[in-house]
Amino acid sequence: MPFYIVVLGPPGVGKGTQAKILSEKNKLAHVSSGDLFRENIKNQTDLGVLAKSFMDKGELVPDDVTIAMIKNRISRPDCEAGAILDGFPRTPAQADALEKMLAEFKGQVDKVPYITAAEAILIDRISGRWTCRANGHVYHEKFSPPKEAGKCDIDGSEIYQRDDDKIETVTRRIKVYMEQTAPLIDYYRRRGKLVEIDGTQPVEKVTELLLSALKK
Ligand code: AP5
Repeated sequence: MPFYIVVLGPPGVGKGTQAKILSEKNKLAHVSSGDLFRENIKNQTDLGVLAKSFMDKGELVPDDVTIAMIKNRISRPDCEAGAILDGFPRTPAQADALEKMLAEFKGQVDKVPYITAAEAILIDRISGRWTCRANGHVYHEKFSPPKEAGKCDIDGSEIYQRDDDKIETVTRRIKVYMEQTAPLIDYYRRRGKLVEIDGTQPVEKVTELLLSALKK
């Protein structure tokens, strides 16, 4: 039976950081909607052009294109055993669509770790974030700086600050999260899948909390 985890939480709380670690530890694919959009932007696809027009304003990309992109991604062979979903679903309509698509693979959402932190922490984390151009590896200038300034430790590519990490866009992203994504907290709590994780702890401690929550 495939095993699907949805990592939920506000922008900058550490979803991507933890989803990568969980995917390596559990040998499951890491499916990040934000990374998929950024890959399309880099490759200048039609989807990338459309997504960028929403992302740069801090708005959500429309449900229909987002759902189609994720369905295509989780149909690939590396998701047969399950996946760690990061950034999807982000609306109740996406969550309903996910339930239907997983049923096709005889699976379901197994657990939803919901990572929390106050807004000031989110802004501090996002404003210090640097992302690797080649593969999306993530650094923070204070909390996890690269060994060599401006370069990814893992693949040596340039690291950059995301266009949507400007303060006015971040504030909008947090507002959009509160309005459109926060209803998923109750959505998954009602289904008995939600586990709250204190995201204010250092990365290693958050991983420990997540691993122990997923074992239960
Ligand atoms: P997306 O890329 O998903 O961005 P997000 O959800 O806003 O989340 P972030 O990537 O900003 O943060 P994160 O929680 O992953 O934190 P990270 O691990 O990097 O989405 C971008 C945009 O794409 C959206 O605004 C939307 O337009 C569109 N989109 C994506 N999915 C969509 C969907 N489903 N529907 C519609 N539109 C969609 O960590 C942040 C920083 O903090 C890093 O520097 C990291 O090193 C550091 N850090 C992490 N954990 C810790 C810790 N415990 N202690 C100290 N520092 C830490």
